[in-house]
Amino acid sequence: MKQTDNSEPPSTRGRVGVVILAAGQGTRMRSRLPKVLHPIAGLPMVRQVVDVGRAIDPAIVVLVVGHAAEQVTAAAGDGLSIVYQADQRGTGHAVLQAREALEGRSDLVVVLYGDTVLVQPATLERMTAAAERAPIVLLTGIVEDPSGYGRIERDLDGRVLRIVETREGAGELETREIWAGVVVYQSAWLWEHVGRLPRSASDEIYLTDLVAVAVQEGREVVALHPPDMVELAGINTQAQLADVNRVAQDRIRGRLMDCGVRMPDPTTVYVDSGVDVEGDVVLHPNTHLQGRTRVAAGTEIGPNSIVRDSDLGRDCRVVASVLEACVVGHGVTIGPFAHLRAGATIEDGVELGNYAEVKASRIGAGSRMHHFGYVGDADVGRDTNVGAGTVTCNYDGQAKHHTSVGDGVFIGSDTMLVAPVSLGDGARTGAGSVVTRDVKPGQLVVGIPARPVPGRSASPPGPRDADGFMPSAGDASR
Ligand code: UD1
Ligand code: CA
Repeated sequence: MKQTDNSEPPSTRGRVGVVILAAGQGTRMRSRLPKVLHPIAGLPMVRQVVDVGRAIDPAIVVLVVGHAAEQVTAAAGDGLSIVYQADQRGTGHAVLQAREALEGRSDLVVVLYGDTVLVQPATLERMTAAAERAPIVLLTGIVEDPSGYGRIERDLDGRVLRIVETREGAGELETREIWAGVVVYQSAWLWEHVGRLPRSASDEIYLTDLVAVAVQEGREVVALHPPDMVELAGINTQAQLADVNRVAQDRIRGRLMDCGVRMPDPTTVYVDSGVDVEGDVVLHPNTHLQGRTRVAAGTEIGPNSIVRDSDLGRDCRVVASVLEACVVGHGVTIGPFAHLRAGATIEDGVELGNYAEVKASRIGAGSRMHHFGYVGDADVGRDTNVGAGTVTCNYDGQAKHHTSVGDGVFIGSDTMLVAPVSLGDGARTGAGSVVTRDVKPGQLVVGIPARPVPGRSASPPGPRDADGFMPSAGDASR
């Protein structure tokens, strides 16, 4: 799914720098995972915020990291200026750390908090436009539950006076207008003042205190509201993470349906940000599309399926199955209860049925594996039938070995293919065979260990050894 671009064309106004604050630990999450690494629609929170910041085409994006700095930097993506805040002494202190990276490089500074992911690029564009006339433009709005947020105190004429933090007694204010942790400054004004902010009672430097500073100077502070108040949502707790994730999922599903994707019950379909789905795809309940998955037109997935980092062609049918890091061609049917693991390449028209497991293997066009079985580290040709219970015995306790199966092969039920082993084109195995030696094209083998059946092979006449096998190059090592 492509990110729809609802932002205005790139600004021709002053150069914009973006600062993203992501140095805090996020203790209120009560998790070992740093807060900004918690996923929203499959991407770490900080990555989502970076994408929003990038969408307004800034001259520079600065990321302030501190807690778990290496992990956070890795998760945030490439092309960022990284600034280290050794001690997390507050949001004002964090912005101050970005001064050297930013001063002189932009006329406006957009500050985004790493835990505020729903703000839309179009809203940031409106804010930067308003910053032409005011040194501070805040994103604010009235919310149902303002607890935990800084609240906007206004005078009798409605002018913004200051932001009052929860710890400073915001709860005593009547207002439910909060600041979202999104703000645009005129750079010159910001860098002149942010270094002079006092320490709060809790010994932190609050970025929010800049509002009162501007007001005391007689400057106007603009407070803009987003079109939808969900843009204001910050994430401090697991419950807030879940709320924001729901909104992010709603947006993705909405965009997919706008592009012609059908979902009988969208609330049970989960699609990560990086997933690409074409029109005329049907996603049934309890379908999860994760990572870098791509799904082509006409394919139907679910109910009850998980597809991760996989590429599905046109007109496939996937029911109650798990697909991971695999490539599937066109017109393939999968499931119920199939498991495709990393490196499975399933060609056009293949049919994989219940409890079929395929790993690091190619299954050639038109081949069928209708029932339970395991194909691993194998190359299976076209129009081959893999009978119920077939297993590629690829692991001898020490190493993995390869199995090669030709075109038009018939593998009888419950055949064990003890790798390394190969079956030539048109070969056949009897039910219950344990195949330990290579089978020639057209040859029928049966039994334990499997041996050729005299007179039942389509292969050319020739010399046979005592077991009835034709001599082959691999025989010396067996
Ligand atoms: C902050 C605001 C509050 C606002 C709310 C919006 C302040 C003082 N308060 O409160 O007015 O309503 O966000 O969601 O700004 N961070 C650093 N370094 C630090 C401290 C924080 O990088 O020293 C980062 C955190 O990683 C986080 C962001 O800044 O991504 C916000 O910090 P957080 O502690 O969540 O602030 P809130 O208490 O939510
Ligand atoms: Ca927060």
